[in-house]
Amino acid sequence: MEKKKYNIAVIPGDGTGPEVVGEGLKVLEAAAVKFGFSYGQRVFDFGGERYLKTGKTLEDADIAELKKYSAIYLGAIGHPQVKPGILETGILLKLRFSLDQYINLRPVRLYNEKFCPLKDKKPEDIDFVVVRENSEGLYKGMGEFRDKGTDKEVATQISYNTRKGVERCVRYAYEYCRNRNKRKKLTLCGKTNVLTYAWDLWQRVFEEVGREYPDIKTDYAHVDATTMWFVKNPEWFDVIVTDNMFGDIITDLGAMIQGGMGIAAGGNINPRGVSMFEPIGGSAPKYTGLNVINPLAAICAVSMMLENLGEGRAAASIEDAVIKIVREDLVSLAAGKMGYSTSEIGDIVVKNLK
Ligand code: IPM
Ligand code: MN
Repeated sequence: MEKKKYNIAVIPGDGTGPEVVGEGLKVLEAAAVKFGFSYGQRVFDFGGERYLKTGKTLEDADIAELKKYSAIYLGAIGHPQVKPGILETGILLKLRFSLDQYINLRPVRLYNEKFCPLKDKKPEDIDFVVVRENSEGLYKGMGEFRDKGTDKEVATQISYNTRKGVERCVRYAYEYCRNRNKRKKLTLCGKTNVLTYAWDLWQRVFEEVGREYPDIKTDYAHVDATTMWFVKNPEWFDVIVTDNMFGDIITDLGAMIQGGMGIAAGGNINPRGVSMFEPIGGSAPKYTGLNVINPLAAICAVSMMLENLGEGRAAASIEDAVIKIVREDLVSLAAGKMGYSTSEIGDIVVKNLK
């Protein structure tokens, strides 16, 4: 059989992004040899440094170029000398929106109970996936100031939810839950008791689409209650579907109960286009260049990328290698306290690939 060949666009980004991406690429290279696929890669310098030098974030021509790749591998975006909002909207959100990556897939899996801040929770209790809508809601950037700077000032920020946008997200979640084939339970996380327009639409779509999936059990939880259950009974969850803002918030909590930002990865998915994979933590400027940041989230992002590209065996092998190091070697998942350096962790994962 002819070797499969992929083209990966790599955006190391800011802060510790380049270091963790370096380890991810080390693992990718080893996996390619072992599992018989090949790939080309091109590194793009989008990020804070480039913005400070050129005033540029991401141009339409950059987007057109990125559309030619099989996938994008992203480190982190965020720079202490750039005002919050510029790089986030100009690069990260622009990528998600212009490539129509309408799903943000964020698995929450505890690999070793000793890294869980919750008492008495075991790996079998924390194993769920959040399907976060990634193109609409409060992230749409709709709103305005009225009478800015006066004592009559009003600032509005609109949550924008289209039937089409909600339906494609909810449908993806049902399909994902079916294919995951674990507890076959899909929970809608919303706020129907207060946000009576947006969540009325979400709830109707959730019920309607659900009729096509009689094999999937459905459940609903308000977002505030969801955070409570994440702490009290995380074992109740299998797949959760929610909007952009709630998904952002609950997945930081999800990352904490699985052991922290050092291990949490996510995929920005366009099922028919170019998807982008990233560790969900930030650029961690204070740890930059010290070889102490945890690269496992970035390595897990490579595993998700390969799964998405159809290299399921390589993806599973990387995840298993991560599980092994987390169970057998690491003292902590936190930067500087792991018992190993960033690059040593990459090496151990490579050695563990089976
Ligand atoms: C995330 C991040 C981003 C978001 C920020 C950096 C814009 O927090 O990926 O969760 O809010 O989506
Ligand atoms: Mn976030």
